[in-house]
Amino acid sequence: MEKKIVLTGIKPTGMPHLGNYLGAIKPALELAKSYEARYFIADYHSLNTVKDADTLKNYIYEVAAVWLACGLDPDKVLIYKQSAVPETFELTTIINAFTSKGLMNRAHAYKAQVDVNREKKKPDDHNINMGLFTYPILMAADILLFDAELVPVGKDQKQHIEMAADIAEAVNRNYKEQLLTIPKPFIDESTKVIIGLDGRKMSKSYDNTIPLFCSEKKLKKFCNKIVTNSQDVEEPKDPDTCNVFTLYKLFATQDQQKTLAETYKAGGMGWGYAKGELFTVINDSIKPMREKYDALMADKSYIDQVLNEGAKKARVLAGKKLEALRHAVGVK
Ligand code: ADP
Ligand code: TRP
Repeated sequence: MEKKIVLTGIKPTGMPHLGNYLGAIKPALELAKSYEARYFIADYHSLNTVKDADTLKNYIYEVAAVWLACGLDPDKVLIYKQSAVPETFELTTIINAFTSKGLMNRAHAYKAQVDVNREKKKPDDHNINMGLFTYPILMAADILLFDAELVPVGKDQKQHIEMAADIAEAVNRNYKEQLLTIPKPFIDESTKVIIGLDGRKMSKSYDNTIPLFCSEKKLKKFCNKIVTNSQDVEEPKDPDTCNVFTLYKLFATQDQQKTLAETYKAGGMGWGYAKGELFTVINDSIKPMREKYDALMADKSYIDQVLNEGAKKARVLAGKKLEALRHAVGVK
């Protein structure tokens, strides 16, 4: 039996944070053990917001190095840059013709920007480029081009994958043929929304992130910035309502969690102590990957080589898929 295909992409818009790692990268690498995996850097998605060429180039290297440092084996997993697979953009053109504008009006990233505009008493279209408006169509092309069945993402991306499924169904219905595979989101309950420094969803847009890789000193500083309540040291504390403990649980063993929870409840523990414990468990689990990351970024030739090879393999797959679609729609 052929293995199911699992695919996901990360936008190069800055150093990935712990939410990206726990919500998307780590589950994706777990799935790669049992599925055929295709993971990519969604660079043209970033162009909507990153308008400086050198900055974008560096972000692309960072995301590639993150995938590799987190354990992606390019001999087993296909890794490529979205922009290196131009078939994606031809498929985008095809599916544009099957996507209602109304569907795009309902996309949450677009709607969120309209809400910001209304709050600021600006016109609805202020700061909205067509890349943002049609974002779900490009994302659908990424997914449908490679026949992905499972797409590991955080909860915020669920709607986009449902839209990709709707678009695929519209195409299949029209041609009365299963031309496109219907994708499903893969969302891990325990990591679907990782909280940030302020207790809201960790997101670059909220400026509340802990970067996956930074110096130990910086990581310590970020841990110290996590918002806690104003209880005195002596007071017993509730681990279940504490941002520090919520993050701690994601990195600590059961025994470590039990010990720290008891320390919370006993009283006599200051927040500085809990934050120090959090730093230790994050740092211990990330350190080996950080060293790999630093080495990859110091000499980017390996990344270049991996991405070039990935692009070649991806284009063979994409080329076949697109050729079948060209015939199916009648341009060939
Ligand atoms: P950001 O919201 O910081 O811009 P991205 O949109 O680049 O993050 O997200 C990349 C991947 O990481 C997506 O699959 C997304 O669902 C996942 N992700 C982002 N933030 C979180 C979070 N706080 N918790 C869980 N998953 C997340
Ligand atoms: N939209 C995703 C994000 O913001 C990134 C992305 C682009 C993606 N294309 C994709 C994710 C295809 C999964 C599948 O994080």
